[in-house]
Amino acid sequence: MMWDVLWLDARLATMTAGGRPYGMLEDGAIAVQDGRIAWIGRHDDLEGPPAALAKQVHWIDGRWITPGFIDCHTHLVYGGNRAREFEQRLEGASYAEIARAGGGILSTVRATREADDAALYRDAVPRLKALMAEGVTTVEIKSGYGLESAAEARQLSVARRLGESFPIEVITTFLGAHALPPEFEGDADGYISYVIETMLPDVAETGLADAVDAFCETIAFTPEQTERVLSAARRHDLPVKLHADQLSDLGGAGLAAKYGALSADHVEYTSEESVAAMARAGTVATLLPGAFYCLRETQQPPVAAFRRAGVPMALATDSNPGSSPVTSLLLMLSMGCTLFRLTPEEALAGVTRNAARALGLADDRGTLEVGKRADLCVWDIDHPAELAYRVGFNPLAYAVKDGRVRQV
Ligand code: NIG
Ligand code: FE
Repeated sequence: MMWDVLWLDARLATMTAGGRPYGMLEDGAIAVQDGRIAWIGRHDDLEGPPAALAKQVHWIDGRWITPGFIDCHTHLVYGGNRAREFEQRLEGASYAEIARAGGGILSTVRATREADDAALYRDAVPRLKALMAEGVTTVEIKSGYGLESAAEARQLSVARRLGESFPIEVITTFLGAHALPPEFEGDADGYISYVIETMLPDVAETGLADAVDAFCETIAFTPEQTERVLSAARRHDLPVKLHADQLSDLGGAGLAAKYGALSADHVEYTSEESVAAMARAGTVATLLPGAFYCLRETQQPPVAAFRRAGVPMALATDSNPGSSPVTSLLLMLSMGCTLFRLTPEEALAGVTRNAARALGLADDRGTLEVGKRADLCVWDIDHPAELAYRVGFNPLAYAVKDGRVRQV
C-alpha cells in the first residue's frame, strides 16, 4: 500500500501541546492518505525510499509546515459596508452611540435584507479569498444581519454555499440575537421569544447552523435574555458561543461557561470570577484584536489571568463591516502579540489548536497529528515566530486542504 502524498525536507510546527515550543520537529516528513495525516515524524524514520512510499512526493527545501489556519469567528456574509461610520467614529462618535442612533449593526441589517443572494455571495467571495490566501482552511461564519427567519436563513445558506464552492470548510453559527430589529423596537423580550420559538427551531430542523451565538451587552441583550437563547440552543442540542464582555462586564463569559459554551469571544472586560468559570467549563477565550484596534478600545482582555487559569486562547478576525473590517488572520497574530501581549507561540496556537477547540473540532484538526485532517500551510519562513512578527507580509507558499494542494 502506498500513501497518496508525502511531504519531505520539512520543518514542522505541529502545535501539539506540552512538548517542544510550537511542537517543533526538524527534518520532518508528513504522509497523507485519504485526506488525513497517515504518518508524521523524522525523515530518517521513514521505512524505505520516498518514491516507494507515496504516489506523490513534495520536497520542500526546509520550509515550515503548520496546521491549516482556522478563523473561528467571522461575520463574512453581509450587505454594504460601514466606511461612513468609520469616519463618524474618527470625528468622535462612539460605536455604542452610533448603534443607539439606529446605525451600527442595524445599518448592515438594512443592507443585508436588501441584497439578494447573488449579491451576498458575490460580496463575500473576495473576503473569503483574502483569508484563504493567508492559509485559512476552516472558517466560521455567523448570521446576525437578517434578524428575521428568512433573512437569517439566507445568510446561513450563502455561507454554506461558499464552503461548497471553495476548497475551505465553512462552519456556520446562528446569531439571531445580535441586535434588536426595528419590528421589535421596545420589545427585546418579545424578539427573544421569536428567536427561540420560531427561528431557532427552523435552524435546528434545517441543519443550517452548527452552533448558536448571541450578543450580551448593554447595546444588545441582557444576561437574562441571553440565557434564554443559550438554554434554548442547548435544548436543541446545538453547541453555544457568546459575544461576551466586549464593552462592559455583564458577566457574559461566566454565563457562557454555565452553558458549557465552546467559546466566549471578545472578553475584554471579563472578571476573575468569569475566568475561573471558563476554566472549569473548558470554554475557550476567543480574542478579537481587530475589533479592539478598529474601535480604539483601551481595556485589554485579561490574558495573564486566562494563562494562569489554563483557559485556552483563540484568535480570530471577527471579520465584519462595523467593528472589524479585517480579512487578515496573519495581522491578528501580530496584533494579538503587540496589543494583547500573547507570545508568538500562543498566537499561533490561537489560530490552530485553540481555534479548532473553539469550534468543537479539536479531535479533527488544529494540530499536525496522525488521524487529523490533512489541512496544512507551507511557509517560506525560517522560524514560526515570523508569522506573528512581520506586518502586512504574507509568506505562505501554499495551503493544503484535505490532502490536496490548494491553488488560490
Ligand atoms: O463581533 N459585537 C458584536 N458583533 C460584531 C460587530 C458587528 C457589527 O458591528 O456589525 C462584533 O464585533
Ligand atoms: Fe463578532
